Amino acid sequence: MHPDSQDVFRRIEREQGTYLEELEDYLRIPSVSTDPSFDSDVRRCAEFLRERMRQAGLDAKLIESDGKPLVYGEWTGAEGKPTVLFYGHYDVQPADPLELWRNPPFEPTLENDGKQLVARGATDDKGQSYAHLKAVGAMLAERGELPVNVKLIVEGEEESGGEAIESFVRRDAGETLGCDAVFVSDSAMYEKGRPSMLYGLKGMAYMEFRVQGPNRDLHSGSFGGSVQNPGNALGAILASLHDAETGRILIPGFYDRVRPLEDWERSEFAALGFDEAADQDSIGIPAHFGEEGYTTLERRWARPTLDVNGMWGGYQGEGAKTIVPSFAGAKVSMRLVPDQDPAEVAELFADHVRRAAPAGVQVEVICHHTSPVVLLETEGPIVDAALAAMADIWQQPVRVREGGSIPIVATLAEVLGAPVLLIGFGLSDDRLHSPNEKIDVENFYGGIRAVVRFLDRLGNLGG
Ligand code: BES
Ligand code: MN
Ligand code: MN
Repeated sequence: MHPDSQDVFRRIEREQGTYLEELEDYLRIPSVSTDPSFDSDVRRCAEFLRERMRQAGLDAKLIESDGKPLVYGEWTGAEGKPTVLFYGHYDVQPADPLELWRNPPFEPTLENDGKQLVARGATDDKGQSYAHLKAVGAMLAERGELPVNVKLIVEGEEESGGEAIESFVRRDAGETLGCDAVFVSDSAMYEKGRPSMLYGLKGMAYMEFRVQGPNRDLHSGSFGGSVQNPGNALGAILASLHDAETGRILIPGFYDRVRPLEDWERSEFAALGFDEAADQDSIGIPAHFGEEGYTTLERRWARPTLDVNGMWGGYQGEGAKTIVPSFAGAKVSMRLVPDQDPAEVAELFADHVRRAAPAGVQVEVICHHTSPVVLLETEGPIVDAALAAMADIWQQPVRVREGGSIPIVATLAEVLGAPVLLIGFGLSDDRLHSPNEKIDVENFYGGIRAVVRFLDRLGNLGG
């Protein structure tokens, strides 16, 4: 047995520079899943990962579907030992706005004396999920075997609400993916040196609406004031969604199913000692804002929210142009909590927007995708092994919730019936989805070692 993993740690110490270079190659492939013009890069990325899995000693293949390929690898030579399924995603968000990147988004660059690797996907989720593969690869290279069985599934449409993995997991019904624990690294530690295990993710309903006015842009002098302006109407609709004072969402029925925070959650969140001023500083705002009666962490982790993601309409170029625009529109996401139902909330939103539309325009509402709410009650020896493995590398982990969504997690928990461990190696200042996304190089290496510790601890359980 390898109670302290030192054999593998020595190898990681020697080889981690190479692991980082491999990650850089992975990051060079622009696997943007939401934009069809990147489809061939997405496939190339899946093939790259399959080859890397094979080089690590896994049996690996692509699982094809209507959507982007899934990459699957396994090593199942540890008879009678538990099986861990690792989940990650190889697709990334679009890199826009390009002009705000210090270096091109798909040319990974080391910054800050080599402490940070900057590239689209560095933390979300190539860097984090590649740590799984490197941990397994280092153990196999060092020992020729693993202490437990492992399976890796890496999807290519997490960022675009795709359904390839959802239908595969349901169809598979645990045959290929059967396991004793699911290990997901697609989130952040609470702060540097202080890891976290998430027990909640928000759900989501992603909406878009389009306000249609006149059949063409009109001269705003000749026609203005005599027709409903789609831009004005857009503003009125958006303003009707929130109470500007209290931050409450005004869609009728929106809060009906919201489960209140438990007292223990409120006190545990409060005990984390969240630094409001440092957070404001780090994101460059003069003050936090949100639903009255809740703290910043409560709002982020456990209260439902509604945000404009983008809006358009009318003239947006240089200088002034005098028109009544023909149309305007907005993309709006709602982040949901237990026990809200994303499909029901999508309906409530659509009804409200249609009602709020002023006379003189037509409004069309669509729902792009939904994601279920996740609230896990994980405990038991496997969870304890994961918590202990984190504490082997960093400080004692904290249990927290998260405002982000990972659509497949609810289905994995439901179909596989195994505890889901949401353990990320990112940091809250990683700028995921933003220009200059990065991963802390130490966290990448620490993530590899934490996974090694977890697998060794699991292999030693009960014997
Ligand atoms: N990794 C994120 C989710 C996340 C973000 C978890 C921050 C923990 C902390 C994931 O890649 C993501 O961005 N998910 C989307 C899902 C959506 C497209 C359904 C999200 O949350 O916006
Ligand atoms: Mn992610
Ligand atoms: Mn993401």
